[in-house]
Amino acid sequence: MNTYITTPIYYVNAQPHLGHAYTTIVADTYSRFRRLAGATVRFQTGTDEHGDKIAEAAAKEDVPPKEYADRISRLFQDTWPLLEVQPDNFIRTTDPGHVATVQSILQKVHDSGDIYFDEYSGLYCRGCERFLTEKELVDGLCPDHQVPPQEIAEQNYFFRMSRYQQRLIEHIEENPDFITPERYRNEVLSFLSEPLEDLCISRPKSRLTWGIELPFDANFVTYVWFDALINYLSGLDYPDGEDFDRFWSVAEHVIAKDILKPHAIYWPTMLMSMGLPLYKKLHVHGYWNVDDTKMSKSIGNVVRPAQLIEEYGVDTLRYFTLREMSFGLDASFSSDAIIARKNSDLANDIGNLFSRSIAMLQKYTEGRIPTPGPAGPADLLLQKTTEQMLEIYTEEMANFQFHRALQAVWEVISSANKYIVTNEPWTLARESSNSKRLATVLYTLSECLRLLAMVLGPVMPGAAAKMVFGLGLETGSNLVSDLERGGRWGLLPAGTVLRPIEPLFPRMERQQVKETEKTVKIVSKGDPAQSETDFGLITFDQFQKVDLRVAEIVAAERVKKSEKLLKLTVMAPERRTIMAGIAESYAPEELIGCQVLIVANMKPAKLMGIPSQGMVLAARAMVDGKERLVLSTVSKTVPTGSRVA
Ligand code: MSP
Repeated sequence: MNTYITTPIYYVNAQPHLGHAYTTIVADTYSRFRRLAGATVRFQTGTDEHGDKIAEAAAKEDVPPKEYADRISRLFQDTWPLLEVQPDNFIRTTDPGHVATVQSILQKVHDSGDIYFDEYSGLYCRGCERFLTEKELVDGLCPDHQVPPQEIAEQNYFFRMSRYQQRLIEHIEENPDFITPERYRNEVLSFLSEPLEDLCISRPKSRLTWGIELPFDANFVTYVWFDALINYLSGLDYPDGEDFDRFWSVAEHVIAKDILKPHAIYWPTMLMSMGLPLYKKLHVHGYWNVDDTKMSKSIGNVVRPAQLIEEYGVDTLRYFTLREMSFGLDASFSSDAIIARKNSDLANDIGNLFSRSIAMLQKYTEGRIPTPGPAGPADLLLQKTTEQMLEIYTEEMANFQFHRALQAVWEVISSANKYIVTNEPWTLARESSNSKRLATVLYTLSECLRLLAMVLGPVMPGAAAKMVFGLGLETGSNLVSDLERGGRWGLLPAGTVLRPIEPLFPRMERQQVKETEKTVKIVSKGDPAQSETDFGLITFDQFQKVDLRVAEIVAAERVKKSEKLLKLTVMAPERRTIMAGIAESYAPEELIGCQVLIVANMKPAKLMGIPSQGMVLAARAMVDGKERLVLSTVSKTVPTGSRVA
């Protein structure tokens, strides 16, 4: 089972940004996923270094193009390790091996009669580095670069692309997975419903020298796209390389929609002319905008990966991009969006699940995975949910539907968090007669965590490795790195000794402060009900002024130096912090996921220096001969923030 996955080779006229990072994270995640599924993988990325654009950028800085290309290519090469992206090959179009391959292919295609010399005049866009048709222009301008194209008349070499139009249409029609998602397949078929023109594949040296010389005419260099696309073959040492034999038939390219046409039309027709099988799949994704605006240098909103990693961490960035973008559609980046995902999906959901489970294992089974007793209905349900997730995950990852794969994973995380709440390990731990049941519950949780660590590996390699380490397992072990052999329930050996680790995803405090300020502003408007009520009878109008709501507890922690207080983070539906005097009645870990009733328009107050925005309602009552607080709740789960009338 082999896999060959590629990214576009990026132009060296711009430094790496979020768009480049996304495509490359996708390819890396997919290659890690395929390895998890047992495949031998080759993952290639690189830089595209010839052509007008690069020559111009180098001239602007007054350096020779190669020197300029060396510098920017290095920036790309240095960025990938920061993103935990591990390509097997980094190709540059200035590599002598690539240059030789391009020339030998040109010669072959020329010899077969598919290249001819002709006079041509047309509308040339320097940004696109190609001639545009009248039809493509919008108000006389190139739609991508917003500049009028130049009228150019010159003699050039042409590739007989039109000759392969019909065969290409048939190939796309017979192979529904050749171009996905379907919208892009349709776009290509619609483009192919019009007659295809031949492709100009040379540039006279009088106009451009920074390119690969045509082997059959030294007055010309190769058009940059004809040069660049061949990287997918030269990177495999085509035609004689062993890698070419092993990987070409399974080639999968990942690109964004901007370069659909060269990949879906030029490239397959070039391969047809060379007499080679076509690549297997083209995966096309949408564009990242920033705060709903196109990312561009002139607007000054270009997002750099290194900066994002510094601010949010690499695991968060990888998770966010894969979870937030529906593959194929555009998505919008904003710091609020990434912080929200970090705090809710990562810190609260997976982070809390992991830390509270490990804390209970430390406390109740001396830091060892216990031997489980017989599984009951709740345990079997969590097992089944996890097993179903493994199937959905495998299918969605294979289809590049990363956001759906992650949704399925997060359903398991939320089920596991609820499993803790309903099975109350802390209550079981109070009675030694329950120790077998406690062992079953903690084993079930640990097994769920192991499988979560396995499926999160391709997405967040760093965090997953920490989970694996914390669970006392080895990174390369089949138990966490082999879907086939380790992706089954019940393999985690009892007796495994846990190892201490730092929290996986600390919350982002900066945002918490910002949110606190926001909420304080909302609720601190003077409420006459509070001053006028004299704790005697109240009127209906007065009662109406109390804003009672259903809130869900998403995080709970003890407060240093306080025996009574717990710091709760609730959604109601907005996030807020509430300090509650319930620490003597509840353990923090049993509260996560509970719905409670709160007074949402309490005047904010600081308790132990922490601002509290509301109050939870609880009954003080005698339970089993002891006085305690019992939280009030609703009899069925309802949307958070529901008003209580
Ligand atoms: N050099 C050509 C590709 C040749 S491949 C044989 C090229 N280079 S590029 O530097 O412009 O990179 C384009 C690619 O970068 C897109 O297809 C996509 O992978 C990525 N992205 C650039 N901007 C992007 C966004 N705003 N959003 C998502 N990805 C984008 O074209």
